Amino acid sequence: MRTLEKLGRWLYDRSRLAPLVRKLLTHGVPAEVARSRKGWFYVFGQALVFLFLLQVVTGSGLAMAYVPAPAFAWDSLRYMNEEMFLGAFLRAVHFVGASAMVLLAFVHMTRVFLTGSFKFPRELNWISGALLLFLVLAMAFTGQLLRWDQDGVWTVMVAAQFVGRAPFVGEQLMQILLGGETLGGATLTRFFTLHVVIFPLLIAGIMVFHVYLVFQNGISEPPRAGRPVDKATYRDEYRELVEEGGARHWPDAAWRELVFVAATLLVVFGLAWMIGPQGPGPAPDPTALEADPRPDWYFRWYYALIWLKPQALDELVLVWFPLAVGVALLALPILFGEGERAPSRRPWAVLLVAMTVLGWGTLTGFGLRPHWVPLFETTAPSEEALEGAPAAAREGAQIFFERGCQYCHQVQGLGGIYGPDLTMVTRRMSPEEVAVRTVIGVRNMPAYYGVLTADEMDRLVAYLRWAAGEER
Ligand code: HEC
Repeated sequence: MRTLEKLGRWLYDRSRLAPLVRKLLTHGVPAEVARSRKGWFYVFGQALVFLFLLQVVTGSGLAMAYVPAPAFAWDSLRYMNEEMFLGAFLRAVHFVGASAMVLLAFVHMTRVFLTGSFKFPRELNWISGALLLFLVLAMAFTGQLLRWDQDGVWTVMVAAQFVGRAPFVGEQLMQILLGGETLGGATLTRFFTLHVVIFPLLIAGIMVFHVYLVFQNGISEPPRAGRPVDKATYRDEYRELVEEGGARHWPDAAWRELVFVAATLLVVFGLAWMIGPQGPGPAPDPTALEADPRPDWYFRWYYALIWLKPQALDELVLVWFPLAVGVALLALPILFGEGERAPSRRPWAVLLVAMTVLGWGTLTGFGLRPHWVPLFETTAPSEEALEGAPAAAREGAQIFFERGCQYCHQVQGLGGIYGPDLTMVTRRMSPEEVAVRTVIGVRNMPAYYGVLTADEMDRLVAYLRWAAGEER
């Protein structure tokens, strides 16, 4: 006992950590955060810190069994799933934990945005938070490739193509991303290093700075309409508020954080237990045409957007849109550092959040639909569907099905939606144009030159004209 006490004294004396920890834990917070239900809006950041720690722990476990080489990566994941002690559960927790981090990062950011907590003097809190968000997304993105299955490899392949289209520096950026001209072993090693060393270190560093700023500037008080932030007076007002209220972070406010952290971890473990590890899906195979590769859920909306946009907007959606969002996020507290904080006085901010959530939900919903590749399970139109069609149109329908047009094109609701719906195509373009388009092909549309006879083409057009209601 004596020795322990001595050791304790020695540690205390040489490190002087205890007073610092005590000071941090008991720093003052606005009474409203500590004593009212509004305190529940202030718990997300803490949960993110714990989720990050969870990712470090589970990730370290995974890294011990993972082999970052194309020939072995996929097998090493299979090994974890099937043979390693707790390997499958560890992978599941790591995936669900990552999902939770992405989700909570957005929830946390939305809360801070809506309550105007990014305004003076907390601009740097927001900017470092935005950097953390980018890094969390970068972790999600690099993590996908480490799975080294069809989905992961394909996602990065597509992303690399986007990056390659960026103006001026596209080519170079793509080579840096892939570690060469094409996606291969060098890419995997590179992503592994980024995912396991570089990004986590950056996250840890910026996170410490972020938390330090939260102590330094204090937790923002719940906003009140008609009490705008004024740089000249805010700090004094805040000091008064915190000193008057007399609430302490520990234990007045911290218990809510701990309850939320515990609940979050429980949900993550529970979900991981229920859904099990994510993949690996089929091993990457460039010849597997019928595969339906898709990114993890957090990037689905963006893929849907890429899919839906007209070709002419390529550069806008792929390059300028993400760039603009990034710059806007970083510039926000500088541009709007003062003024009203209450959401009721910031209708545009509320509208922006509502539109973002709506747009995200819609696009994600669309991204869940199977249309990324041709739909091979389609069947020829039934007798009822062709009721009343002239003979040429009937034959055309058969050709449309047999020649595979229907894999990619819908007519009257039947077929894939990889290409545009052709129900009304003869109203958009003349029969000659339809024939020319079909024979020559356009971008993702294969050329049917030499495959279809002129006679077959006539019947196809007859079918399409009948479908458009032009020949009834
Ligand atoms: C592998 C999928 C695929 C197959 C198979 C396919 N198409 Fe297409 N088709 C597309 C895509 C994608 C486009 C849009 C091209 C673009 O603008 O990038 C398209 C465009 C078209 C267009 C122009 C439509 C418009 O509104 O601009 C016509 C006409 C057309 N296809 C007819 C056909 C016919 C007829 C067949 C069968 C003989 C066929 N396609 C087979 C994918 C396909």
